[in-house]
Amino acid sequence: MTTFLLNEQKVTLHDSSADQTLLDFLRQDAHLTGTKEGCASGDCGACTVVIAEPDQGRLRYRAINSCITLVHSLNAKQILTVEHLAQGNQLHPVQKAMVEHHASQCGFCTPGFVMSLFALYHSGAAPERSSVIKALSGNLCRCTGYRPIIDAGIEALEHAQPDTFDARAEKTVKALSEIETEVLPKDPLPDHSVQFWQPENRLELEQAIARCPEARFSAGSTDLALEKTQQLKQLSPLIDLNRVAELNRLDVDEAVLNLGAAVTYSDLAETLLADYPEATEWLERLGSTPIRNRGTLGGNLGTASPIGDGPPLLLALNAEVTLGSVRGLRRLPLHQFFTGYRQTVRAADEWIDCIHLPRRQPGSLFRVYKISKRVEDDISTVCAAFYLELEQGKVRVFRAGFGGLAATPLMLSDWQNSLLQTDWENIDIAPFAESLEAELHPLDDVRASARYRQRVTGNLLRRFHLETTGTAPTRAIPVELDHA
Ligand SMILES: Cc1cc2nc3c(=O)[nH]c(=O)nc-3n(C[C@H](O)[C@H](O)[C@H](O)COP(=O)(O)OP(=O)(O)OC[C@H]3O[C@@H](n4cnc5c(N)ncnc54)[C@H](O)[C@@H]3O)c2cc1C
Ligand code: FES
Ligand code: FES
Repeated sequence: MTTFLLNEQKVTLHDSSADQTLLDFLRQDAHLTGTKEGCASGDCGACTVVIAEPDQGRLRYRAINSCITLVHSLNAKQILTVEHLAQGNQLHPVQKAMVEHHASQCGFCTPGFVMSLFALYHSGAAPERSSVIKALSGNLCRCTGYRPIIDAGIEALEHAQPDTFDARAEKTVKALSEIETEVLPKDPLPDHSVQFWQPENRLELEQAIARCPEARFSAGSTDLALEKTQQLKQLSPLIDLNRVAELNRLDVDEAVLNLGAAVTYSDLAETLLADYPEATEWLERLGSTPIRNRGTLGGNLGTASPIGDGPPLLLALNAEVTLGSVRGLRRLPLHQFFTGYRQTVRAADEWIDCIHLPRRQPGSLFRVYKISKRVEDDISTVCAAFYLELEQGKVRVFRAGFGGLAATPLMLSDWQNSLLQTDWENIDIAPFAESLEAELHPLDDVRASARYRQRVTGNLLRRFHLETTGTAPTRAIPVELDHA
């Protein structure tokens, strides 16, 4: 049984299929057809809706892609759709700004843009072009042009005032916490007919696995749901990890950042970037705002994709991963995790529990670079991360992690060891870049040729050397693009 607020109405689902997407639920069952289907793969934003949930007594609003979100995963949340924004004849300020700026032509993309801007309106962001562009990173428009849409976003932020949602917030928080405390506990491991389990802690997770060993895990479903929407596969039975308390840990001790496997990218950003601010661009270019609002590092490792952006960064930072099962927890270095193309040491009944990153060492140098065709919302052609510690100018620790260059995320131990004890400031980096390129045997595919991938990776090492020896600017790729 799944219970949530759909706009202001409490809805309980009893028997819809475990892998029903939110978009299908909205359009087919709730007949809320303002939310559109474009790509059904998280790429266009036509299906954007906003999820509101209590956060320290207030409501937090986040845009998500309804086409790749499983409706049963939204227990105790409020789903806000475009139909609900205007009150009577009174448009919401973001809708008004869109109208006044002529920011819509055919209108197919417009509900999605409006919902992304609505989430931004409630985020407290400054009325800056860069905030609007980030908020719209998951929305495509094919006829209006982005300038008027961005202008509408800036204007809405400039004049932001409490709206009707703020006026109702207290009531909404109360309604959601009633669902949380009164409705959900009655049914911790729901009936088998829906084949969707949403355990609240490790013990319930073990029980769910025992009840249904063939069930697949789902977190943000930003990857998993594509099997349904693109390959028409059935995903159920499913065990949803979003509410497992232990998988949502996000804590820091003296030595380690502990990032629970089910924490979304948006939620882990502050913790990660406090120690590793150089990962800002990596994070801002991982998918889009709606993808980061749902996607998790656990899911990124769970896909074991050789082009995932998580592993290069995590390998370079010497991450460890904890896996859990009825047999207990085991912790291993991430470089031992990947064993082959989309294969890992994780057993079928094991979940990824937590990712552990060492705290930042004073004086350490770190960069992570992503090469892709588009800046936003694009999968990497190559992703490379480099980490360096020096002692009296000599390389004491050097680690690199690569994606897009082999059947698995890659760490080249012998090659990286060849840099140890070198005089970093004064070495000729060219032979090391050449030997790196020679170690790589990437594929040719639609994203790039093998030779391009080799060459660009060697160049990224050169760039790291230039940036960390003070001979090049530290940042070359603009985050703020002119979409006009
Ligand atoms: C439009 C779009 C853009 C994207 N851009 C990027 C990008 O730039 N870079 C990038 O790296 N990826 C990208 N992705 C892929 C995806 O968003 C990420 O891999 C994300 O981290 C997946 O996390 P999730 O929680 O959504 O995983 P899910 O889709 O829920 O799960 C993915 C897989 O992992 C398994 N799984 C999930 N959690 C666990 C766990 N805790 N333990 C064991 N198994 C688990 C699931 O069973 C499934 O097989 C993009 C996807 C889309 C749709
Ligand atoms: S329909 Fe394109 S992102 Fe959902
Ligand atoms: S207005 Fe037509 S796609 Fe944006």
